[in-house]
Amino acid sequence: MVDEHHAVLPDAAVQAWLVPGRRDGVYVDATFGRGGHSRRLLQALDAQARLVVFDKDAAAIRVAHALQQEDGRVTVVHGGFGGLAEALAAHGIDAIDGILFDLGVSSPQLDDAARGFSFMREGPLDMRMDTREGPTAAQWLHTADLDEIKEVIAAYGEERFAFKIAKAIVARRESGPLRTTRELAELVAGAVGTREKGQHPATRSFQAIRIHINRELAELAHALAAVLSLLATGGRLAVISFHSLEDRMVKQFIAAAARPGAALARLPIAEKDMPPPLLRALGRIRPDAQECQRNPRARSAVLRVAERTAAPLRPGDVQAVVARLGLPAPLRPVRRRGGRGR
Ligand SMILES: C[S@@+](CC[C@H](N)C(=O)[O-])C[C@H]1O[C@@H](n2cnc3c(N)ncnc32)[C@H](O)[C@@H]1O
Repeated sequence: MVDEHHAVLPDAAVQAWLVPGRRDGVYVDATFGRGGHSRRLLQALDAQARLVVFDKDAAAIRVAHALQQEDGRVTVVHGGFGGLAEALAAHGIDAIDGILFDLGVSSPQLDDAARGFSFMREGPLDMRMDTREGPTAAQWLHTADLDEIKEVIAAYGEERFAFKIAKAIVARRESGPLRTTRELAELVAGAVGTREKGQHPATRSFQAIRIHINRELAELAHALAAVLSLLATGGRLAVISFHSLEDRMVKQFIAAAARPGAALARLPIAEKDMPPPLLRALGRIRPDAQECQRNPRARSAVLRVAERTAAPLRPGDVQAVVARLGLPAPLRPVRRRGGRGR
């Protein structure tokens, strides 16, 4: 196994993340991976700067600790970026200049069959980024009810055949638990009616189950809310997403924070009394054809960048922005389900 991850959009991401004129600031890498982006940022930072790096994955954290040994500006947090504000507070940090999220799984995670992320490699059905906690995919698939499995596969996989797949999984359980990636991939392939060009029929279901097991979108929503309070004036938010659910959440978040008064637009409120923008969108960047050829993982990547304005946060601002995120069904506070007594 090659323990390597090619950082996506390396130059554009670092340019987006680093605030011009603040080479001595406090920066966060929310998804350290193998540190491709972090190393580049460190090259651009002054000796007084700080870089706090997060990852859920023990192998990523080993690499981060090795970097910390070499570079005293680095602080390592083994944990989810959902706990961003609390973890930074524990290190005495209540304001940051820039944060980068490079979402999803890394190449070493996909390449290691023992982690169970890939339907291409036979391995235990695990899929946890942080192997210290939570059920494995196999455990969840063995205990979740039909509705929950269907909802997760439909919402996080945007899979048309979610119900058929969930039914096949529940029926299969009667003859014993699903244990391996290939068992699941074959079961899903049997349940999916049509084939999408160039895509394995289990792609969407694997993505959905991984997102659910790692609470990926819940953590992202939580972290984005924290970023509004943490970013200093002029501070940068840079997010690289790899699928539409993540990108939609980031786009809606930036739009809601850039126009916090949009929900009030129809009310008779004078312009001067409208809440001021909290973020300014700085753009959306896609990798060019050359990068996609060199690094196929880059093909679906989208980098969005925003900058914190000088407007102070008022009570209720963060909640108002979060309320405008179009959360997928499993994350909505009140579930819309048919039937009596639910
Ligand atoms: C695409 S890789 C990042 C690669 C990195 N930018 C580099 O250049 O090497 C994503 C990493 O984020 C981690 N990760 C994903 N979601 C996370 C979360 N909610 N909290 C902390 N780490 C997370 C994964 O374990 C993985 O190592």
